[in-house]
Amino acid sequence: MAEDLTIITGNKTEQYESLIPQLKGLLDGEPDLIANLANVCGALKEQFNWLWVGFYLVKDDELVLGPFQGPVACTRIKKGRGVCGTAWAQAQTFIVPDVNQFPGHIACNSTSKSEIVIPIIRNNIVVGIMDVDSIEFDQFDETDRHYLEAIVELIDF
Ligand code: SME
Repeated sequence: MAEDLTIITGNKTEQYESLIPQLKGLLDGEPDLIANLANVCGALKEQFNWLWVGFYLVKDDELVLGPFQGPVACTRIKKGRGVCGTAWAQAQTFIVPDVNQFPGHIACNSTSKSEIVIPIIRNNIVVGIMDVDSIEFDQFDETDRHYLEAIVELIDF
């Protein structure tokens, strides 16, 4: 496995298209979940330089902070709370263009302006979520939804 990521400039689609084969290479043959989640965060942070990208894992009916890149974050989120807990409860992706407009948004970092949360579903059960935060309003769109949903599918849970 090559440890160096190739980072490209270009539009969002080009950036994801460049990253996905590299993510497959990083994940290939590695069975350890934490190692894989950590590398996915590292690769996404390196390519896109978002404020925060990371995972929360469902444990004992709470979301518990997993591997991430970015500022320190809240460690536990209850079902239905914030964007993450809502994406878990409803088992669907949430794109939040302005976090101030999302009722119950949990502000782990005051500089976060927009957010996307993707549930990770295995055997019809949400086992965790991927959360991405940006310092820009309206950072995330259907392109991000498409590719980030594909990326979480690459990870064996
Ligand atoms: N903003 C999230 C909490 C997690 S942090 O952004 C990393 C929420 O409302 O669920």
